[in-house]
Amino acid sequence: MDYTDGAGQPGAAGAAAPNPHPPVYLDHAATAPMLPEAIVAMTEELAHLGNPSSLHNAGRRARRVVEESREQIAEAFGARPSEVIFTSGGTEADNLAVKGLYWARQADGPRRRVLLPATEHHAVLDSALWLASHEDAEICWLPVDGTGLVAADSVRAAIEADPGSVALVSVMWANNEVGTIAPVAELAAVCAEYQIPFHTDAVQAAAQVPVQFADSGADALTVTGHKLGGPIGAGALLLARDAQPAPVLHGGGQESDIRSGTLDAPAIRGFATAAQVVAKTRDSEAIRLAALRDDLVARVLAAVPDAVLNGAPPGPGRLPGNAHFSFPGCEGDALLMLLDARGIACSTGSACTAGVARPSHVLLAMGADEARARGSLRFSFGATSAQEDCAAVGDVIGEAAERARRAGRS
Ligand SMILES: Cc1ncc(COP(=O)(O)O)c(C=O)c1O
Repeated sequence: MDYTDGAGQPGAAGAAAPNPHPPVYLDHAATAPMLPEAIVAMTEELAHLGNPSSLHNAGRRARRVVEESREQIAEAFGARPSEVIFTSGGTEADNLAVKGLYWARQADGPRRRVLLPATEHHAVLDSALWLASHEDAEICWLPVDGTGLVAADSVRAAIEADPGSVALVSVMWANNEVGTIAPVAELAAVCAEYQIPFHTDAVQAAAQVPVQFADSGADALTVTGHKLGGPIGAGALLLARDAQPAPVLHGGGQESDIRSGTLDAPAIRGFATAAQVVAKTRDSEAIRLAALRDDLVARVLAAVPDAVLNGAPPGPGRLPGNAHFSFPGCEGDALLMLLDARGIACSTGSACTAGVARPSHVLLAMGADEARARGSLRFSFGATSAQEDCAAVGDVIGEAAERARRAGRS
C-alpha cells in the first residue's frame, strides 16, 4: 500500500531525509484501507452494467446484487434486511436520521426538542444546528463527563423536563475523536419508555465492537463502508419498522421512498463484503488492536511524560483501536506535520475538520481548556496496523513534541 506522494516519502513539505521505516498509517478512523475481499467483489461488479431499478435482465441482475448485499449487511449488524436503507455514507445517513426523524415527529403536533451531546460528529451536530436555525428546533445539550460519556440518567432528566416536546435523541455509539463508547442499550431503553426515537451514529464502532441493531434497541443507526474496509461512498441507515423519517432526498422513490437516488451496486457490494469480513473478525481484531493501542500508549507516555490520554481509560468503555492524546504546549497541527514528515500519518481529530486549525469541539465539550483542545492528536488502528507502527511512533514522538513545543514558544 502506498500512502506517499509516489516518491517514497510523505507528501509533506520538508521531508528531507529518508524515513527509517515504511510509511505508518495510524488514521483508520478517518478512512481505512479497503479489504482485499471488498476490492475483488467491487471490481468484479464494476464490470457489470445495470440500474437496479431497471426491469430488464441487466437491471434485475444488479437488483439481485443489491438485495444480497442488503441481507449480508443486515446479518453483519443484527438487523432485518428490510431495515437497511442504503445511503452514500455516514454523513447522509446522519442527516436523514436527524432531519428526517425530526420532520416526521412534527406530524401530530410540534415536538421541537432535539437531545444530543456536543461531542457528536459534525454530521449529526450540524444537522441539528441546521434544524435549529431553519425549523425552530430547540437543541438540548446532553451533559458529558470528562471522558465524553453520556449517562442514561442525564438522558432521562432531559426528557422528563418535558417529554411531549422531544422530537428525537441522538448519541453516537463510539466517539470518533476520543473513542469513548456510549451505553447505547441503556440510552435506547430510556428513550423507548417515552416512545421517543433514538438514533445512534455507529460509524466508528461498527468495525471494532459488536454493533447489533436489534439488541441495541436503537430506532435508527448509522454505518458507513469506508471505516470498515469497504469503499468510500456507500453507507446505510438501519431503521426499525416504526421509525419512518421524512426523506431528505426526493426523486425516484428508491429505498422505500426514504432515500431516492440510483443505487450504486458495485459500492454496495464492496461495502457488504467488508461488513461480512468484519463481522467474522471483529472480536479477534478487537483483542489485537487493544494490545497495539496499549503498546502505543505506553511508548508515547514514556517519551512524553506530560502527555495526557483523553477519553475513557483503555478497557470495555473505549474503542480498542483509538489512542488520543493532548501534548501540553504543542499545537496539534504542528505535531501532526512533524510526524507526517517522518512518515507517520495520524490526525488532530475528525478528518472532516482537520485542515482548519481550531480546537477540538469534543475536548472542549469534555471540559478541556482551549490549549489542551488544540494540542491533541489521534492515532487510530485498523486491519493493516502492526507492532512496527507503535515502535515507529515511539522512536520519534519525544523529539517531535519537543520541536512542536519550541515552535509554539517562538
Ligand atoms: C462518527 C462519524 N460519523 C459520521 C462520519 C461521516 O461518515 P462519511 O465519511 O461516510 O460521510 C464520520 C467520518 O469521519 C464519523 O467518524
